[in-house]
Amino acid sequence: MARVFVSCALPGDALDRLRREHQVVLGGERIGVRDEAFDRDAERFEAIVSVVTDRIDAALLDRAPRLRVVANVAVGYDNVDVGACRARAIVVTHTPGVLTEATADLAFGLMIGAARRFVEGDRLLRRGAFAGWTPSLLLGSPVHGATLGIVGLGRIGQAVARRARGFGMKVLYAGRRRASPDVERALSANATPVDELFARADFVSLHCPLTPETRHLADASMLARMKPTAVFVNTARGACVDEPALAAALASGRPGAAGLDVFEEEPQVHPSLLALENVVLAPHVGSADRPTREAMANLAVDSVLAVLSGRPPAHPVPQ
Ligand code: DGY
Repeated sequence: MARVFVSCALPGDALDRLRREHQVVLGGERIGVRDEAFDRDAERFEAIVSVVTDRIDAALLDRAPRLRVVANVAVGYDNVDVGACRARAIVVTHTPGVLTEATADLAFGLMIGAARRFVEGDRLLRRGAFAGWTPSLLLGSPVHGATLGIVGLGRIGQAVARRARGFGMKVLYAGRRRASPDVERALSANATPVDELFARADFVSLHCPLTPETRHLADASMLARMKPTAVFVNTARGACVDEPALAAALASGRPGAAGLDVFEEEPQVHPSLLALENVVLAPHVGSADRPTREAMANLAVDSVLAVLSGRPPAHPVPQ
């Protein structure tokens, strides 16, 4: 029986399965590996189940010499120093696949919400400012028939493109690699240089991992290419966007609106974004439907069980 540190309670019964085979030490929500429960036993843990708010770096790994696996409950793993893990022969795993549709749902919801302004409408109603129907109240941008630019046509980007077909949208995409002809054909997606995509699209939606290449990809010059009627959406990672530049761009009306689920310094949101009416904000809930979060927890636990019993895990991160 190994000792496993789990960042915090997880939805569903995944942790019960883990407890049947190993000794689980639970951290506190939002504290995770910064919980003193981790410090107390650091040198005895053989596995960590981490979440996106845990920073797994070399300093932490040095305190946990028996560690064999870090199972991140997320598809993104920019919170884990994969190189430092590799150097210590620690396996890193993630949870791809199971959150694809949930995240695509939220991205589409943010697109529609920002374009059709019903979140602003909700605020207007609640403050008692709805004085009756008028022809020009909360005019927005159409979603149906618009051009969607997807940055990162991986699993989630493709799921967004599938939804776009139902809305009669034209799909452009940019990414590290060109998609296969089959994928391009199935999604009617056209490969486009990223700067051209920002200029041509009515909606730009980010679905790329956070890497040195994508950090602040949406900066002042890229955003300045967007149309005044366009909508910018980010459900990937906050640091893919230069937030002060986005706030300034939205304040000047180009792009016209944004929908954001992720922020560079979570849980902080840049104060100038909070002050804007033309941005819909969500608290990093892209994968937050119950079956999805339960499936993510199960995948992470499966990875820990596999590695601790000497089997290869199903979803190691590329090392
Ligand atoms: C992920 O999986 O990377 C999400 O951001 C966590 O829900």
